[in-house]
Amino acid sequence: MSEIKSVAIAGASGNVGPHVLKGLAEAKFQVTVLTRSKKPGAYDSSIRVIEVDYTSVESLTAALQGIDALVSTVGGTAIESQTTIIDAAIAAGVKRFIPSEYGNCTTNPKLESFPVYSSMAKIRQHVQEKAKAGKITWTVLACGGFLDFLFARPILFDFGNHKVTLYDEGDNRMSSTSLPNIGKAIAGILKNAAATKNRIVRTSEIILTQNKILKIAQGLRPDIKWEINTVQTSSILKEGLEGISAGDFSTPTFMKIIISTALAGDVYGCAYDETDNELLGIKELTEKDFEKLIAERLG
Ligand SMILES: NC(=O)c1ccc[n+]([C@@H]2O[C@H](COP(=O)([O-])OP(=O)(O)OC[C@H]3O[C@@H](n4cnc5c(N)ncnc54)[C@H](OP(=O)(O)O)[C@@H]3O)[C@@H](O)[C@H]2O)c1
Repeated sequence: MSEIKSVAIAGASGNVGPHVLKGLAEAKFQVTVLTRSKKPGAYDSSIRVIEVDYTSVESLTAALQGIDALVSTVGGTAIESQTTIIDAAIAAGVKRFIPSEYGNCTTNPKLESFPVYSSMAKIRQHVQEKAKAGKITWTVLACGGFLDFLFARPILFDFGNHKVTLYDEGDNRMSSTSLPNIGKAIAGILKNAAATKNRIVRTSEIILTQNKILKIAQGLRPDIKWEINTVQTSSILKEGLEGISAGDFSTPTFMKIIISTALAGDVYGCAYDETDNELLGIKELTEKDFEKLIAERLG
């Protein structure tokens, strides 16, 4: 496979996109940003920014001329529109497509028909069919939960109020990676295009459990009294699925499905014992680094 030099990002203005943009720029790829609407001063002047219509193959094909690889970091309702993005990428001669997934267990076949995961499975199937026909190649990055989100938001722990709800007994293992390293991993994929062709690539900076965090937090601050509750991931998942069946498409309902599967440990393969960290140049967190992260949250 010839070298990838020119890379486009779709959705660079969201949560993941800026980190991917930084990772690609630092790795010296020529970067083009695709956006629904240009905002003055949003990107460095060295970055080419093109307005696109994600519902139009023609608009996307025109924007993708001369692009070797397309990294999608689109969110929300745009996830499903990636079939159009893929068709345009093929029409423009793009060699590699990385869909917007960046998940924990998004690639687990057991979850393919579940809300949230089904859209991602549909996109994977679309690009895989095209790849089988030799029209494009693909890579999916599985990276676990975003470390930054898990520590900044009351997902695993409510550090601010010293509360924790342990999923199952709190020992479920989960891979996690920080957003800057996701950007670095994407650059690593494209620098190793042959070794990452048509496969799921896994990165994980740390495999954590809620009990591991709790033990470190209690060791660092024995004065804090934690309010501890427990829930079963299977009941939260049931609630989420029943909510969707009843027509409740609210964020909390979707979050029930995401959290109960991502935190179900080995049930959906959320802890990556084997990773591509070395290939991608991702260093794992040391116990000391991890303790520092927790100490920062404890104040
Ligand atoms: N593993 C985890 O813990 C975790 C956590 C969060 C997200 N994720 C995954 O990461 C990926 C990116 O998520 P994100 O949170 O970065 O996405 P986001 O911030 O919601 O959206 C990213 C960008 O997509 C573009 N976009 C195009 N069409 C859109 C539409 N119809 N609606 C909304 N945005 C649209 C927007 O850029 P323009 O305005 O410039 O066009 C937007 O800034 C998703 O696949 C998500 O599932 C994983």
